[in-house]
Amino acid sequence: MKHVETTARPSEATPELPTVEVDLHVNGGSYRLRFDARVTLLDALRDHLGLTGAKKGCDQGACGACTVLVDGKRIVACLALAAQYDGREITTVEGLADNGELHPMQKAFARHDAFQCGYCTPGQIMSAVSLAAEGRAGTEEDICEFMSGNICRCGAYPHIRAAIRDAVSEGDDASL
Ligand code: FES
Ligand code: FES
Repeated sequence: MKHVETTARPSEATPELPTVEVDLHVNGGSYRLRFDARVTLLDALRDHLGLTGAKKGCDQGACGACTVLVDGKRIVACLALAAQYDGREITTVEGLADNGELHPMQKAFARHDAFQCGYCTPGQIMSAVSLAAEGRAGTEEDICEFMSGNICRCGAYPHIRAAIRDAVSEGDDASL
């Protein structure tokens, strides 16, 4: 397991701001970080760990672009304080592939051309992986309903739903 020590950047180390030390477990690695207590999980992943797969769309919990898994369950990382996730198992889209082999949900998205610009895609895939684990991908209506927190400005919804249906019915494990 990797262990990395980092500290806040000088510009963030304003003396009067409280800092916290957090152990983030991400994609099988362990990272001890110190940062401003107000840093969101999304900013910790992107700005402190360089994991830019989770995207910042609205930054207010409305688009799903920042979806990651915590202990196998999906959350929107822009509304989560990183300090609350000390020791929890976090998975980002970078952690889905296994030894270079894409996850079945990633393969299905590629097969069905389930994206245009791709900005929403990491969040869509993480949400879909969680959906499969929740057993809520049985019908088109269920997929519509339980993927409704993930917005696609390009309108790739029919292809996204087809990819999810395909991945779930493939028999491969489309969950985590
Ligand atoms: Fe988090 Fe939009 S960036 S929900
Ligand atoms: Fe462009 Fe979804 S593919 S926002």
